Amino acid sequence: MTLPKTVTLIEVGPRDGLQNEKNIIPTDIKIKFIEALKQANINEMELTSFVSPKWVPQMKDADEIIKACLEPGKRHFVLAPNQKGVERFYAAGCDHIAVFVGVSTTFNKKNINKTTEESMAELAPLIRDLKARGKFVRACISTAFYCPYEGKVEKEAAVDLCGRFAELGVDELSVADTIGMANPKDVYALFSRLKESLPENILLTGHFHNTRGTALANIYACLEAGVDRFDTSAGGLGGCPFAPGASGNVATEDVLFMLNEMEIETGIDMEKLLEAVDLIRPHITRSLDSKIYGLRMAGNHT
Ligand code: HMG
Ligand code: MG
Repeated sequence: MTLPKTVTLIEVGPRDGLQNEKNIIPTDIKIKFIEALKQANINEMELTSFVSPKWVPQMKDADEIIKACLEPGKRHFVLAPNQKGVERFYAAGCDHIAVFVGVSTTFNKKNINKTTEESMAELAPLIRDLKARGKFVRACISTAFYCPYEGKVEKEAAVDLCGRFAELGVDELSVADTIGMANPKDVYALFSRLKESLPENILLTGHFHNTRGTALANIYACLEAGVDRFDTSAGGLGGCPFAPGASGNVATEDVLFMLNEMEIETGIDMEKLLEAVDLIRPHITRSLDSKIYGLRMAGNHT
């Protein structure tokens, strides 16, 4: 068994983490949270989304977040689902975009108000143009294992959608277990298949929600398949408002603990990361799904 020696954790707390929060968090708190995450030496992060403020009110301050937090030289992503989102991305002077599509068309319709095919038809020319302009394109593939509306998703359907994005020239594929239903066996099978079938220059990332406590096992299955990038969320915040039953992303600190103990390097500073969680916690209305942060709250230092 050969596991990666280093792993990159892409912090999705400021985007996936906060988008599902009902109370609107003040913009200055979000900015302080992002700055604290940067202090923990996190270099890749989803900062916010260019989506409809009517659909996701929490993300309506995206332009202010970008203005305050975007740092040249860092992979700071903004999500965009359509032409209007891409226009806002160009206008804000960003370099790293994350588009998102569901394998399951029912989920895509609930999330973006388009079928998967309609989204692909809109995104294909936009991605070609983004690449022609030298932008970094990350494609987030939702419901790669299971859909809250359609049930189990066929592995080949996920492989096929990833292949179509690869043909469009994306730089990264982030493949998601949107509602935390995947198991390590299926995760190993899908990610091994993607490792074989995708061009080597495309970064492959795992995105696991921890609804049923299987995210760490799924990450370990990915490591065995040779995957060395994971989306994680400080404090275990997260969830998609249009995916009923989805709880938070796996907590960055829980993944960091496991990787540290396995002597896999990430470059992330645990103490500073927990300070970032301290900062956002008073503004979150539900309890955090984080073992390591829970231990710290109980007085057990890690
Ligand atoms: P729609 O209502 O069909 O949009 O929504 P429309 O094109 O008919 O336009 C309606 C209005 O929205 C117009 O404004 C547009 O200008 C505006 P009006 O004329 O009424 O004033 N509009 C926009 N405004 C700002 N930014 C935009 C934009 N587009 C249109 N980009 C739409 C379609 C895609 C906009 C809507 O469905 C939407 O915003 N969806 C976003 C949903 C979302 O953010 N979901 C969470 C992120 S994905 C996720 O969490 C999964 C992931 O974590 C992986 C995983 O775990 O699976 C990535
Ligand atoms: Mg997600």
